[in-house]
Amino acid sequence: MAQTVSSEAFKLPSGPLNQLSGQAFLSPSLKAMQSDASTNPISLWLEQARTLWNGAAGQPSCAQCHDDIETMKSVAPQYPKWSDKQSKLINMEDQILTCSQRTQRPLKSLENTELLSLSALLHSSSAGLPFQILPNQDLKQRWQVELNAGAKLFTTRMGRMNLACTHCHDLNIGKTMRADVISPGHPTGFPIFKLSWQSMGSIDRRLRACYSGVQAEVPAPGSPELRQLELFLKSRAQDMPIEGPSLRR
Ligand code: HEC
Ligand code: HEC
Repeated sequence: MAQTVSSEAFKLPSGPLNQLSGQAFLSPSLKAMQSDASTNPISLWLEQARTLWNGAAGQPSCAQCHDDIETMKSVAPQYPKWSDKQSKLINMEDQILTCSQRTQRPLKSLENTELLSLSALLHSSSAGLPFQILPNQDLKQRWQVELNAGAKLFTTRMGRMNLACTHCHDLNIGKTMRADVISPGHPTGFPIFKLSWQSMGSIDRRLRACYSGVQAEVPAPGSPELRQLELFLKSRAQDMPIEGPSLRR
């Protein structure tokens, strides 16, 4: 299935691979694009999101209830979390979708470009902060059930290739698969602007792509199993800093 990296342009750092974030797997040209705001497509998405956040004068906007985006920096590290109101695990994009119904621009779906740009903005305001994936005290057991389900999914074989997440993202880190180098699958870089999608995409979409990659039945956007996996990935990456939004091939 996988072969060793041969590309000269790309070199993995030496030492343990399992703590490397997706950034360590970018090609030099992608890294250069990422660090240059004038060529990085993400700049435009963040600009659009700031406009959406602040809204037009006199209209209900995100800022009207939440104030300046800077006040939200502790938020992204805490998602996904259990929502008492909705009685399910929700991630950042789910919360934005819910909140958009409170504004002049109610959004309809999770892969909406406005929603993704707002998610990018909220994540960028938390850049460098570690995930704070913790259960509410009174919901500890409910939360633990979700986390355990995510951990189980991570090691469950699926699809026509009969592989689990762990087979690629623990056991084959650094190998190439098609044109990608397999990373540990840490969730730190999301949302991502993926050149092959020509769009921003959520962790939800990336996980669905991995299901599709092993020719498994792909869960619908927002499915509980995707949230459980996200919870597991983020608790696994507990001390790693948020680097999203970031570029991918
Ligand atoms: C009318 C007031 C209102 C508006 C407008 C609003 N929100 Fe919210 N927002 C809330 C409330 C209330 C909550 C608490 C959770 C809930 O009830 O959904 C919340 C929670 C959030 C959270 C999670 C905060 C946390 O600490 O976990 C995020 C992120 C968020 N909103 C984003 C947005 C975005 C993006 C917009 C604009 C599209 C927006 N909100 C517009 C009222 C609002
Ligand atoms: C057959 C191998 C394979 C399997 C199985 C697989 N993936 Fe992936 N996954 C990839 C490849 C290849 C990429 C793109 C390169 C990379 O970032 O690792 C990727 C990317 C990812 C990323 C994005 C990392 C980043 O920084 O952009 C996450 C998160 C992820 N996978 C999680 C999962 C989860 C969860 C499962 C199980 C449901 C899974 N993957 C199953 C091969 C696989």
